[in-house]
Amino acid sequence: MEYEKIAITGSNGFIGRNLTKNLLNQDKTIIGIDNFSNSKKKDQIEHPRYSHYDIDIRNLEELKKAINGIDAVFHLAAQSTVPKSTKYIDKDFEINTKGTLNVLKISKETDAKVINVSTSTVYGIPNSLPTSEESPIKPISFYGASKASAESYCFAFNGTYDTSVVSLRLYNVYGPGNRKGVMWDFFNKLNANPSHLEILGTGKQEKDYIYITDVVEALNVALDRGEPGEAYNVGSSCSYTVNELAERIFEIMDIDPEVTYTGGKSWKGDVEKTKADISKLKKLGWKPEIGLDEGLKNYYKWFKRKI
Ligand SMILES: NC(=O)c1ccc[n+]([C@@H]2O[C@H](COP(=O)([O-])OP(=O)(O)OC[C@H]3O[C@@H](n4cnc5c(N)ncnc54)[C@H](O)[C@@H]3O)[C@@H](O)[C@H]2O)c1
Repeated sequence: MEYEKIAITGSNGFIGRNLTKNLLNQDKTIIGIDNFSNSKKKDQIEHPRYSHYDIDIRNLEELKKAINGIDAVFHLAAQSTVPKSTKYIDKDFEINTKGTLNVLKISKETDAKVINVSTSTVYGIPNSLPTSEESPIKPISFYGASKASAESYCFAFNGTYDTSVVSLRLYNVYGPGNRKGVMWDFFNKLNANPSHLEILGTGKQEKDYIYITDVVEALNVALDRGEPGEAYNVGSSCSYTVNELAERIFEIMDIDPEVTYTGGKSWKGDVEKTKADISKLKKLGWKPEIGLDEGLKNYYKWFKRKI
């Protein structure tokens, strides 16, 4: 099936903006929905085939007016960090779970395929690494819990109605346009003071990082070939410690700073070791193309242009 008119919630966020540009390049017509709660209005995309709706996904009636006559929805709008979910539990639930339920209800009415963007955080501390989609869903953060509940509603819509909803569980996404996360934090700290870096936690946290263009491709593959009722991991299936990341960044920046550690856990609810089993999405013809060294260099180039 050809998907011509596509809605993207969270279209002004890090992943949403990259996806929007990609789909506009494929001649799609895009309905963008974003209330700018975690992005800047001045960054809003302007294009003859892009219409923006400054609305909150918690508002079902407003959302209904924006989303009609569409072929597909990429649902990315979310409260997207673990620390904020600890601080604002109810708001995190209302945006991530209730907001997703609203998107599902409207998509059902318009018969649109839904790509729900979820997170590896739903696994909590995984039973095994690399972690497959069959692993238990046992989140250890409120963000993980609200995204896991959202996924459950996706499964329930497919089970109850003849809807076409696919979930993608993203690992740590990085690259141009990202203004959060460990790499962004290191770039900023080292730009301000190239002779010292404070690392949150022990530096031994070991995570799976996936480059933004590979994620955009995974979103496209999920729309074209994702099986309704299925969830797919999107990671690189390589993991790096925070210390290894820091070393690579020092090399790119050509600096040799003193490193200190806060010790303990980086933040409450953090999953300290992640690594995706990506064989399920690979079967649909997707694979990561950009390795960490190339990805970090591109990201740093973008950072330098932005500061
Ligand atoms: N970036 C990652 O590493 C990563 C990893 C796993 C999963 N994800 C998921 O991918 C999706 C996109 O992540 P991102 O990194 O682009 O996040 P982001 O915070 O940059 O983008 C989210 C966008 O949603 C908007 N938004 C938030 N609440 C809204 C609401 N109530 N109504 C309308 N718009 C609202 C924000 O203004 C923002 O522009 C999220 O669902 C996130 O949970 C991201």
